[in-house]
This record gives sequence, C-alpha cells and structure tokens, in this order.
Amino acid sequence: MSGRERLARPELGRIEAQDVSIRLGRGAQAFEAVQEVSFSIEPGELVCVIGPSGCGKSTLLGALAGHIAPASGKLHVDGAPVTGPHPDRGIVFQHHTLFPWKTARDNVAFGPKMRGVAKGERRRQADAILDLVGLADFAGRYPKQLSGGMQQRVEIARVLVNKPRLLLMDEPFGALDALTRMMMQELLLDIWTRVRTTIVFVTHDIDEALFLADRIIVMSPRPGRILEEIPVPFKRPRSTDIVASQEFGRLKHHCLELLRVRPDGVPLPRLSPLGLGTGDSE
Ligand SMILES: Nc1ncnc2c1ncn2[C@@H]1O[C@H](COP(=O)(O)OP(=O)(O)O)[C@@H](O)[C@H]1O
Ligand SMILES: [Mg+2]
Repeated sequence: MSGRERLARPELGRIEAQDVSIRLGRGAQAFEAVQEVSFSIEPGELVCVIGPSGCGKSTLLGALAGHIAPASGKLHVDGAPVTGPHPDRGIVFQHHTLFPWKTARDNVAFGPKMRGVAKGERRRQADAILDLVGLADFAGRYPKQLSGGMQQRVEIARVLVNKPRLLLMDEPFGALDALTRMMMQELLLDIWTRVRTTIVFVTHDIDEALFLADRIIVMSPRPGRILEEIPVPFKRPRSTDIVASQEFGRLKHHCLELLRVRPDGVPLPRLSPLGLGTGDSE
C-alpha cells in the first residue's frame, strides 16, 4: 500500500462488558477487585478509565488483555469472549518491557518474528511503525540509549506492529516528566488518527483523560464499580488550549467531585486549598 498504510481495522475492536466481576487473591485472602462492571466501547473509540489508586483499573485492563479471567459476567471483543492473551489486544504499561539486548527495530520486529513473518518483511514493518512514532532515526539504538519517552514510543510501536484491535494502556506516561508526558499525549492522538484502533487508556490524571478521551469511565474505590461515563465534547484535533476553557474546568471539577466519594456514597471532606490535608500523620 502506498502513502498511508492501513495499520488497523477500524471496523474491529468493539468491547462489550456485562456485569463483569473480577476476584483476586486466594482462599481467605480472596476479594472482589472489580464488581459488576458493564460498558461498551465502539471500534476506534478512545476511552479513558479513571479512578482512585487500588480501585481495580489495572485489573480490568488485565482482564481485557486476557491475563485475568473474570469470576462472572461477559467480556467480549468483537462478539467473542476473551479467553487469553493475544497480539490483537496489546498492552502498554508504565514501564517498558523491551529486551535490553535488542535494538528498537528488533524489539518491534519480535512480535512479527514470533508469528513467522520473514526477516526482510518484519524489518520493513518495524521500520514503518518506528517512523509512525517518530523514531525512524533511532531504529538501531538499544533501549538504554533512548530517553524514557522514546522507550515508551518503542513500546507502543511494539504493540502496534501487530495491528491490534485494542490498544490497552495502563498509565503509560505515568513515569515521564510533565513536558514529555504532554508531548506523548499529543503523539498518541496523532498516531490514533492514523491507525484508528480502539484505545482503552487507564490513568489517574483527570487532565490527561480529558485531553485524550472521547469518553471517560469513572470508577469507584475498591471494589471498582462504574460511577459514571462522561462524554468528552472537545473537537478534534485537540490542542492544549482546551485546558484553559471553561468547559474543561467544569468537567475537571465534576471528575474531582466524583473521585472524592467514598464507596458508601458519602462525599469525603474537601481538601485544603493546597491539597495537603490536615497535617495528621498517616
Ligand atoms: N495479584 C494480586 N493479588 C492480590 N491482590 C491484588 C493483586 N493485584 C492487585 N491487587 C489488589 O487489588 C486491588 C486492585 O488493584 P489494581 O487493579 O492494581 O488497582 P489500580 O490499577 O486501580 O490502582 C488493589 O487493592 C491491589 O492491591
Ligand atoms: Mg494500576
């Protein structure tokens, strides 16, 4: 294919979750991490999941990736139950999982290699995706020769080279400095306009969710339930200017209020203006 090669299949990547509960731990230690969660995500949609630490965001994403089986409920991708990991559902974590002894190109080409793609072809595929993430000139570098942001770009390329139906992202920019993080968010949106794969992006950063998402799913504290789904109305392509808009402020405030609710529905006391609490030691 010439010019814009089609890297994903926008008609694929529909997620249906119905009353999904996920239990973790064993025996007396077993507990419900995610409780009767239902949602659906359209092919090519970018949905962010936010919620307090420990509420089950990673657990839910792990179930979508096929690493954890739900205890009950229905979890379908394109009409088929998720039964285990598959390159069609790629996951990117906060810290990269690149092989330190392989170059960026060979790291990206590893998935195709495992699928039996011939050497010349898999190098061509890897180079095309590295170009997409802005790393055409760094294909021969090893992970430790790359900055944190670049390592995450290789990590995204490593997943995208499999032309996934779902790109699952678990706080992928959480370890980056603020400026790099902003650039990565813009880069992700740029990539997404070109590949149009479904993205489920977990973050605890409300600003990040509002900047990226078509829709935000807000989860309650453990056991994670869905408190609300918030459509994000900002036009695309988005620029960081939206952060200064009244609507952004309104939605951010709304998310903050939602996240300050205890599991029993009682709102928590307001934070001090600096968010520093009362000074009581924990
Ligand atoms: N393998 C595990 N065994 C037992 N408990 C776990 C395991 N993984 C996570 N947990 C606990 O399950 C809850 C949900 O975890 P997680 O999905 O990682 O939350 P989040 O990503 O929202 O911070 C947390 O209380 C966490 O401590
Ligand atoms: Mg997590």
